[in-house]
Amino acid sequence: MRTLIKGGTVLSSTGAVVADVLVSDERIAALSAPGIAWEADKVIDAAGKYVLPGGIDAHTHMEMPFGGTSSHDTFATGTTAAAWGGTTTIIDFAVQVKGTTLQSTLDKWHSKADGNCAIDYAFHMIVSDVNDTSLKEMRTCIDAGVNSFKMFMAYPGVFYATDGEILRAMQRAADTGGLVMMHAENGIAIDELVAQALAAGKTDPVQHGLTRPAELEGEATSRAITLAKVTGSPLYIVHLSAAEALAAVANARDTGQNVFAETCPQYLYLSIEDLARPDFEGAKYVASPPLRPREHQASLWRGLRTNDLSVVSTDHCPFCFNEQKELGRDDFSKIPNGIPGVEHRMDLLHQGVVAGEISLARWVEITSTTPARMFGLYPRKGVIAPGSDADIVVYDPTATQTLSAATHHMNVDYSAYEGLAITGKVDTVLSRGRVVVADNAFHGATGHGRFLTRDLCQYLT
Ligand code: URP
Ligand code: ZN
Ligand code: ZN
Ligand code: ZN
Repeated sequence: MRTLIKGGTVLSSTGAVVADVLVSDERIAALSAPGIAWEADKVIDAAGKYVLPGGIDAHTHMEMPFGGTSSHDTFATGTTAAAWGGTTTIIDFAVQVKGTTLQSTLDKWHSKADGNCAIDYAFHMIVSDVNDTSLKEMRTCIDAGVNSFKMFMAYPGVFYATDGEILRAMQRAADTGGLVMMHAENGIAIDELVAQALAAGKTDPVQHGLTRPAELEGEATSRAITLAKVTGSPLYIVHLSAAEALAAVANARDTGQNVFAETCPQYLYLSIEDLARPDFEGAKYVASPPLRPREHQASLWRGLRTNDLSVVSTDHCPFCFNEQKELGRDDFSKIPNGIPGVEHRMDLLHQGVVAGEISLARWVEITSTTPARMFGLYPRKGVIAPGSDADIVVYDPTATQTLSAATHHMNVDYSAYEGLAITGKVDTVLSRGRVVVADNAFHGATGHGRFLTRDLCQYLT
């Protein structure tokens, strides 16, 4: 089966060129100047449109148990929604429950995902129980293609790891080639502020933001960077939201340390004003780290330009407003943490191009090419080049759309971006050569997506 994507503007992390892309079965066979009369079974006219490598969302939570409930997208619904939005690979977090092994955690995540994904998928491992067995098993995970390990400086009693535990895991990562990913918020101090707020009768969702100040993200980020330096471990800060944390990352990078960070669309577009919406509406915007005052957004965009922020992932973690966020109506600390977004990352970041915040090449780099390199998927993913998987998005930069829960495909009853007007729209999506989205219809299938064993991080200096 040969498909020709004809006459589009092919984007990469280094620029744009008008070219034809020939797909043969699952792979890209050729990228050529227009004019070659390729024989093909199917021709997609991409004139006037962008042709870019499928998005890679390196931070999702499908079917994740949290706060007495579970994130509402299954691997089937979440990966289908991702495909609609031009994302063709997700990396989801397998969650170790204290007292269980990393191997049993991997098995559990495979049993949720295998045979159920519409696009290709990989895993990171959340290490919440640092002990001799877990540390030994980091090697088992790496051998199974799961070589990045998330740890938490937040959520005492649940995922929280002490500095000593983090140090031990980082030492092991340094020895094995693994990458430590950090949720950097000072959870011990935050828990005190939360208890004080509740004792004072402050129960509204906005308290979630007020009890998790940016300084405590900055402090934890600096501490994680110091521990990484002492151990010689590379470090990837997840869902960075605060200017203070970005300053710490930038400073570490300036001194040559292997420190990287991602941010998420919600920190670029939403703010603590959304958390303060009346009538418990703010619960829709509860995630950790919390949405910040708007002033932080300019720093984040700058970080995306300077590469102090290398990746934009969604931290997609959907909980329904009606049945799930409701758990915290009388106590903000019981609101399940997470915001849905896997479907809208490519569109939202395209608004950064429209607004002149980032270039087209940078759009591709932070949403696809760098995540591929960072997480050992390049050049299989993240680039349109002969031999790469034919994960391709044809994107119409002039189409317009309005984001809404009424039209999105995520399995959640609200949109964090309800009513937001977007310039640009996904036209066609190919996942390993198969057209999965075209003509405003889904043509994919759950079970098409394959598990990706990842090489070690290729992005280290
Ligand atoms: O609020 C969030 N971010 N929920 C998902 C879990 C995490 O910390 O990434
Ligand atoms: Zn439900
Ligand atoms: Zn986190
Ligand atoms: Zn997350």
